[in-house]
Order: sequence, then structure tokens, then C-alpha cells
Amino acid sequence: MLWPINNSKERIHQPNESVMLSRQEVKAIESWISQMGKFQFYKTAGQNMSTARRTLKFKYKIIGHGFNRVVYDLNNGYILKVAFSEVGLISNANEAYIYNNCNEKVKKYLCPVKEYGTGWIIMKKVDTNVPFAIKEYTKLFKLELNFLWCGIIPIDLRLDNVGYNGNDEMVVIDYGLFTMDLKSPVLRWFV
Ligand SMILES: Nc1ncnc2c1ncn2[C@@H]1O[C@H](COP(=O)(O)OP(=O)(O)OP(=O)(O)O)[C@@H](O)[C@H]1O
Ligand SMILES: [Mg+2]
Repeated sequence: MLWPINNSKERIHQPNESVMLSRQEVKAIESWISQMGKFQFYKTAGQNMSTARRTLKFKYKIIGHGFNRVVYDLNNGYILKVAFSEVGLISNANEAYIYNNCNEKVKKYLCPVKEYGTGWIIMKKVDTNVPFAIKEYTKLFKLELNFLWCGIIPIDLRLDNVGYNGNDEMVVIDYGLFTMDLKSPVLRWFV
């Protein structure tokens, strides 16, 4: 598996094994990912999300989705994100990479990754009720500086993509587009 955002030359083993998901559930995700491309053309994120949900047939409740991933509540304090777009695939792989390779000083600001495989990632469930208030924007700005200080460019860091951990500290739940690589192709969209 390639890591397109951070370092395209680097390869990392993706375990694809899970303590939290059954073998059938991992297989269902693998099967969905292998056929995902067929459904995407001319479809909205909502339509792609519905196709993913219907194909996966998981018993878990969906607690959210963005433009790229559908998020299930595993009911044990963890959530499962499954990709329904290429960006979702990259984001899941990138979050696992960033979490496992970032500077220890900023790791505490990232929602912890528990397990991951091709197209999926399991993270700690956090409180996502973030008010759009000046105080929270200030925290977000400080968070941004901390990442930059540690060599991470926090692309797409906004209030929708953060939550609060058990100690009521702000953590990033969607860091799929963050990069530690200044030559990242993602940066070309912004510069
Ligand atoms: N760790 C978490 N704990 C609780 N809820 C979460 C968590 N991660 C994601 N969610 C929920 O799922 C939603 C979508 O997750 P996420 O932002 O990672 O998806 P995405 O498709 O990458 O988003 P985007 O459209 O920003 O690319 C979040 O807005 C949030 O409601
Ligand atoms: Mg998001």
C-alpha cells in the first residue's frame, strides 16, 4: 500500500486484522473497497455513503459521515471509519501513518488510532459537540500552531474535524489530509 500524502516512496504494512471486527466484517470491507470505484461517477457523497452502508450491511449505528468516509459506532468506546471515495482511502491510510509517526508532543492532540487496514480505521470515540464559539476557535488556532511547530501541516483543520477527549481537551478526529511531507501532492491544491 502506498502512502500518497506523506511519502510516496514509503511502504508500510497494513495489518488488516482486527480484534474488534469479525473476520466477516473485515472481508465485507475488503469486498466493498474492491468494488467501490464502480459506483462513484456522478454520485453525491450522500449517495456513495448509502451505497457503502447497503453493501456493508453492518449492525452498527452510523454516527456520522463526511464527503469521504462513513463512521460507525462500535459501542465499545471506539468508532469505525470506512472509505467510500479515493480520498477516504488515502485519509484512512494517512491517519494511521501520522498517528504512528508523528512527534510525541503532538500525538496527544490526535484522536487515538486503535486498528486499521485497507479502507478502514478504528479510532477512539470522542465528544463531537463543538460549539462555534470564539473560545473554541482560539483553541483551534493554538492547536494549528502546535502542529506547525512539530512539522505537521494541518490541512483541513476546522471545528467540524475536532472533538473533546475524556479530559475535555480538544483533539483532531479528521486528520486524513494532514501532512509531514513538504513535497506532498495535497499541498499543490493550496499553494
Ligand atoms: N473519533 C470520532 N468520534 C466520534 N465521532 C466521530 C469520530 N470521527 C468521526 N466522527 C463523526 O463522523 C463524521 C465524519 O468523520 P470524518 O470527518 O473523519 O469523515 P470525512 O469523510 O473524512 O470528512 P470530510 O468530509 O471532512 O473529508 C464527523 O463529522 C463526526 O461526526
Ligand atoms: Mg471531516
